[in-house]
Amino acid sequence: MTKIYAIANQKGGVGKTTSVINLSAYLAASGRRALLVDMDPQANATSGLGYNKYEMSPSTYDLLLQTTAVADMILSNAEYGLDILPSHPALSGAEVELVNAIGREYRLQQALEQVNGRYDYILIDCPPSLSLLTVNALTAARDGILIPVQCEYLALEGLSQLTQTVELVRKYLNPNLKIRGLLMTMYDSRTNLSRQVVEEVRKFFPDKVFRTIIPRNVRLSEAPSFGQPINVYAPSSPGGIAYKVLTAELMKGDQQQEVVS
Ligand SMILES: Nc1ncnc2c1ncn2[C@@H]1O[C@H](COP(=O)(O)OP(=O)(O)OP(=O)(O)O)[C@@H](O)[C@H]1O
Ligand SMILES: [Mg+2]
Repeated sequence: MTKIYAIANQKGGVGKTTSVINLSAYLAASGRRALLVDMDPQANATSGLGYNKYEMSPSTYDLLLQTTAVADMILSNAEYGLDILPSHPALSGAEVELVNAIGREYRLQQALEQVNGRYDYILIDCPPSLSLLTVNALTAARDGILIPVQCEYLALEGLSQLTQTVELVRKYLNPNLKIRGLLMTMYDSRTNLSRQVVEEVRKFFPDKVFRTIIPRNVRLSEAPSFGQPINVYAPSSPGGIAYKVLTAELMKGDQQQEVVS
């Protein structure tokens, strides 16, 4: 059964795209069939894998406007063993264009039904907002939401707004939506602050925080400019190792869940 996760946090620059790219790449490297869906008009996941976002047509913009069959939009990246539904800056106009469309929150969910069974994992990158684009991602996220949280001052700020949105989507659009896990990112082992933030988030969300913590690592920030995921660019860097361990933690948790259910 395909696992579908949205990676979301309306706070900008917390590591959503970095996590989507590298989790997808490590899932693929572990032999899982993975699809990365870029739902952000910034298209950083698309460009971070080496594509020119301005040339992406069709893209998730067309997906939302339902002008093209999903299978015809998917890019297969043989090098990374990964499929991608790319984004284009035009996606920023989709919200306005869909303002009167009935069922506009279900467009991504419906589109992904077209590829049901073709993947083990579908990971959806969200923009830094709680817009229609994020609501589409949360509605499609059958197995939950992954929330990257940057290890910095005021890390918890805004999380209550996010959890309220999760509640609303669960109530009205996707009754299965749950928080799959919070992921602490950009951890700086030299500061007490990072440690305190992790403790605080663990206190607020007991049992919900991934054991794996992503360190601040310059290799992770360099990799996108080479269009490469970290398992290709610098697999033995601290960031590369952390995302590999995180991927294993995610897969293990999913397998255990399947045994239970
Ligand atoms: N663990 C890390 N160590 C060092 N740099 C990182 C790390 N994670 C992300 N970065 C860098 O921080 C910046 C923000 O990360 P990223 O783009 O993944 O965040 P985002 O949440 O997707 O941002 P946005 O909200 O704009 O979509 C990028 O320049 C990225 O390369
Ligand atoms: Mg991003």
